[in-house]
Amino acid sequence: MKYSRLRGTQDIVPPEIETWRVVESAFQETFDRFGYQGIRTPIIEPTDLFVRAVGEESDIVSKEMYTFEDRGGRSVTLRPENTASVIRAYLEAGMHRWGGIQRLCYFGPMFRYDRPQAGRYRQFHQVGAEAIGSANPALDVEMIQVVIEAMERVGFKSIDIRLNSVGSEVSRRPYRKLLLEAIRDHGDDIGTDALERYTNNPMRIFDSKDYGDKLKQSLPVISDHLVDEDSEHFARVCALLDETGVAYTSDPHLVRGLDYYTRTVFEVYHGERGAQSALCGGGRYDALVEECGGPSTPAIGFSVGLERLIAALPHEREKARATGGVTYYVVCADEGAAPRALRAAGVLRALGNTEIDLSGRSKKKQLQAAEKKHARYAIVADSASAGRLTVRNLALRRDEDVSDEALAVYLEAERRKEGNET
Ligand code: HAM
Repeated sequence: MKYSRLRGTQDIVPPEIETWRVVESAFQETFDRFGYQGIRTPIIEPTDLFVRAVGEESDIVSKEMYTFEDRGGRSVTLRPENTASVIRAYLEAGMHRWGGIQRLCYFGPMFRYDRPQAGRYRQFHQVGAEAIGSANPALDVEMIQVVIEAMERVGFKSIDIRLNSVGSEVSRRPYRKLLLEAIRDHGDDIGTDALERYTNNPMRIFDSKDYGDKLKQSLPVISDHLVDEDSEHFARVCALLDETGVAYTSDPHLVRGLDYYTRTVFEVYHGERGAQSALCGGGRYDALVEECGGPSTPAIGFSVGLERLIAALPHEREKARATGGVTYYVVCADEGAAPRALRAAGVLRALGNTEIDLSGRSKKKQLQAAEKKHARYAIVADSASAGRLTVRNLALRRDEDVSDEALAVYLEAERRKEGNET
C-alpha cells in the first residue's frame, strides 16, 4: 500500500460507522428534547483564541496543539476543543444580545498532538453542549441531566459522575498559595523540576499520575477553601442533584486540564475507574465570555469523547449494526432483468433501506451476499419468470412468488404481520 493514515488518526468505516450514527442520533434526540440548538464552527481558528481560553500553560496549549503559519503568515490552530470556538462564535453572532440562556450543541473532530494509545488519539470526535447566560445552579443540574439522558439513550446503564467545585478566582488565588506551600513541604518526593511545573498552577498536581494517593490525600483541597458564594453554589448544585435523584460522587481531587473552569466541574466514567479515562468532561466557565471580549456572562458545558464512548459499548455495537443495515436486497439474476430490478428497488425504497446487487455475479452468490448483509428480504428479479418476483424471507428461509405490481402490498402486509408478532 502506498499511503497509510497518520499516527493517532482513525478511519471509521462500515459497519462501525453505523454505531456512530446510532450514538450521534441518541445525543441529537436528547439535545432536541432539552431545547439545545446546533452550532458549527470552523475546525481552524486563530491560535490566540485557544491560548487565551484554554490557558498558555495547560498541557493542551503548551504541548498538544496543531499550530502552524498559514500562507498569509497568521498563526492558526486546528481546534483542540470546541468551547473556545463556541464562545467566539456566540460573541461574533451577537448572541449575547439575544437575551436569556443560549443552549447550543455540536459534533465534530478535535485535534491534540498527544502520545497515541488506547482511547487517546490525535484526531478524535466530541459531541458537546454549552448553555450560556446563567449562573443558576439548576443549570448545572440540567447539564448533568443532558449527559445522563443521552448516555442512557445510547445504552449505558451505570455511569459514574464525579463532581467537584474548583471555585472562582477569588477562592482559588489564596488557595493556590496554600497548596503550593504544602507541595513545597513535599519537595524531596516531588523533585525540583516538578516543583517548577506546579508553581503557576499547583492544582495540576491532582491530575498527575506521577504521585500516589498518599501524597494527594495530605494536600489541602479547594472545597475546604471556597469563599461563601462559591461554597453556596456548590452546596445548591449537590442539593438539587439529590432532590432530583441524580447519583454522583463528590471528588475533592477532581481538577480539569483546561484553565477556563470556575466552580462546578465534572467528569463521567463508565464502570470501574481504575486506569480508565473519562468519557466526558465539563463544567462552568463563568469568566470565559468576558475573557474573550464579551460582557460578563456565566456559562456551563460538557463534551463527550465519542471514540471512548463507543469503545465502552460492546453490546450496543451489535444492536446498532442490526438497526442501521439493509432491509431489502434486490437480486438481479441476469442483465435482462435489470429494468424490473431497478423498478422493484424504487418501490422498496419507499418501505425501507434497499440495496440492489448490480455486480453481475450468479444468483446464488447474490443471495449469499444478502444473508451476509443481514437483510430481512431478498427480492429476486429473473428474466426466466417475467412479471413475477421471488420474495425470500431470509430469517424464515421462506420463498413467496409475487407479481411485480403486488410487491409493495405484499411487503406492507408482511411488515404488519411482523409488527403484530413483536
Ligand atoms: P476535555 O476533558 O479536554 O474537555 O475533553 C472531553 C472529552 O474528550 C474527554 O473526556 C475524552 O472523552 C475526550 N478526549 C479528550 N482528549 C482526547 C484524545 N486525545 N483522544 C480521544 N478522546 C479524547 C473539553 O474538551 C471541554 N471543551 C469540555 C467542556 C465543554 N467544558 C465545558 N464545555
